Amino acid sequence: MACSFRRAIAAKLSRTLQQPEELLLPALSAVPVFRKQQTPDFKLSLSVLRLNGILPTTADIQLQTEDLTRQLKPDCVVQDISAGSGAINFTINRKLFIQKLLETFDNDAKFGLNSELLNTLNRGTTLVEYSSPNIAKKFHAGHLRSTIIGNFIANLKEALGNKVIRMNYLGDWGMQFGLLGAGFTQFGSYSKLRDNPLQHLFEVYVQVNREAEHNDNLRQEARDFFRKLEEHNPEAVGLWQRFRDITVEEYQHVYKRLGVRFDVYSGESLHQSQAQEVVEQLQSRGLLKTTEKGTGVVDLSVSGDLSNVCTVLRSDGTTLYITRDIAAAIDRKDRYKFTEMIYVTDKSQANHFQQLFQILPALGHHWAESCRHVPFGLVKGMKTRTGEVVFLEDVLDEARTRMLLNMSQSKTTKELEDPEDTAEKVGLSALIVQDFKGPLQSDYSFDWDRILQAQGDTGVFLQYTHARLCSLLQKNEDLAAHFDPSLLNEPSAITIVQHLLRYDEVLLQSSQDLQPKHLVNFLLKLCHLTASAHRELPVKGSPAEVAQARRCLFRGSCSVLANGMKLLGVTPVTKM
Ligand code: ARG
Repeated sequence: MACSFRRAIAAKLSRTLQQPEELLLPALSAVPVFRKQQTPDFKLSLSVLRLNGILPTTADIQLQTEDLTRQLKPDCVVQDISAGSGAINFTINRKLFIQKLLETFDNDAKFGLNSELLNTLNRGTTLVEYSSPNIAKKFHAGHLRSTIIGNFIANLKEALGNKVIRMNYLGDWGMQFGLLGAGFTQFGSYSKLRDNPLQHLFEVYVQVNREAEHNDNLRQEARDFFRKLEEHNPEAVGLWQRFRDITVEEYQHVYKRLGVRFDVYSGESLHQSQAQEVVEQLQSRGLLKTTEKGTGVVDLSVSGDLSNVCTVLRSDGTTLYITRDIAAAIDRKDRYKFTEMIYVTDKSQANHFQQLFQILPALGHHWAESCRHVPFGLVKGMKTRTGEVVFLEDVLDEARTRMLLNMSQSKTTKELEDPEDTAEKVGLSALIVQDFKGPLQSDYSFDWDRILQAQGDTGVFLQYTHARLCSLLQKNEDLAAHFDPSLLNEPSAITIVQHLLRYDEVLLQSSQDLQPKHLVNFLLKLCHLTASAHRELPVKGSPAEVAQARRCLFRGSCSVLANGMKLLGVTPVTKM
């Protein structure tokens, strides 16, 4: 497919430069397209060749470009070779180009995924930890971001051939459970816990916190309850287990609505005793210092003057969030033998992970180099009609309600079997696309009206384009699969095919920096190009042969759009 063209160009270069193809391939890339402007298909970057020592860096780069261009001769595959600025441009034989690219859609649901470019990637086991809410506390916008970003990373890594472990690391341990336990004994109700568990646990938690502010007894009870938990008192553990089980069960329902799943529900509670072992190991390696206050710290300063320390032990001998994370990382490496591990949280935890990645190697765990933190920015103003977002379900309901209203007001809305379901899927894609469009580190303000616009670069636009393509394909189902590529000679058709050619590069880029924006912007552009082509290249009413060729073009565009959307975590709708 597309990449055999890459090969053909590399082979040609290899003969001229007397270098192995493998070294030349990385310097070749598909050219980004522009609407209403014709571009070559591939370009060879001279600076990459210079960087890789294939060409001398001393020469004038433009002269080098022109010189090399002169030495390369077009053939029946590569129809045109020209010098650009610091790069050589290649255009493939039009007929061959269109035919090879579009015919892959005959049976290839994995377009782009087994390309030569992606086949060079190392594959292994990727552990992605995401979502990770805290029991009885709010599920805030940060948890939502972690959930959708982590899901995207897991989808992408899986599509690229890795074994992926999707892990949810619950905040299910710590003093808050002392409060919750003590609080539940006083204000809790088993029937409410059964009917509306998340809501009830949250209410009890809010109430007990408020009460504890001026109630010494309650604070003491909370401490007692937590101590009982740490001592594995069966009654305390029983109640805690119930809170945890019920929470996981509830979350599983909501994650399902979101199209997200986990292989493992882990949590801080699983690593309490290992965390104590970590403290002992730090001690035996001479890394644990005791402060005047009696806390245990690890010195992370460069000069060893305790100017930058990380507290791993409280004065009462209990461990902290970071201590449990150290233990958890070691346990995961043991258990899953991952080749890489990715943590997805908001950027306020960047320092926490930096400390983690510093302490692990100090304990001899040099695989810490294969761990990454993917930080993301704050979302401001994510509200529902009834106020602040407290539960994940609130956001999903709000997206659905608003989208349903928009659909009922739009003249183009089709008769649907299950409008609520469609509204939910479209509403969610709006949320995801808005979130993924920019660099993850940026903060952004949330605005329902803006994200749900049908025009412009929104998830609604992606869905709308997909639905239109599906309807076009369905209406013309009887057309034969074979087509004459010379009938697709209009610029708007060629541009789409050229754009599809970039799909694997875009996936590669996203898999390297773990930023979904490359894929999102690629898909949005595909939709814009498709919309123009749709206007300019009608299928209906065209002579059969032309209609057939155009249908093949739109089939390619629909297939890549759907696959890309699924990677983002969006379920493409076929009608809306
Ligand atoms: N539960 C934490 C929170 O809500 C996030 C956990 C992130 N993961 C980790 N391994 N520390 O802030």
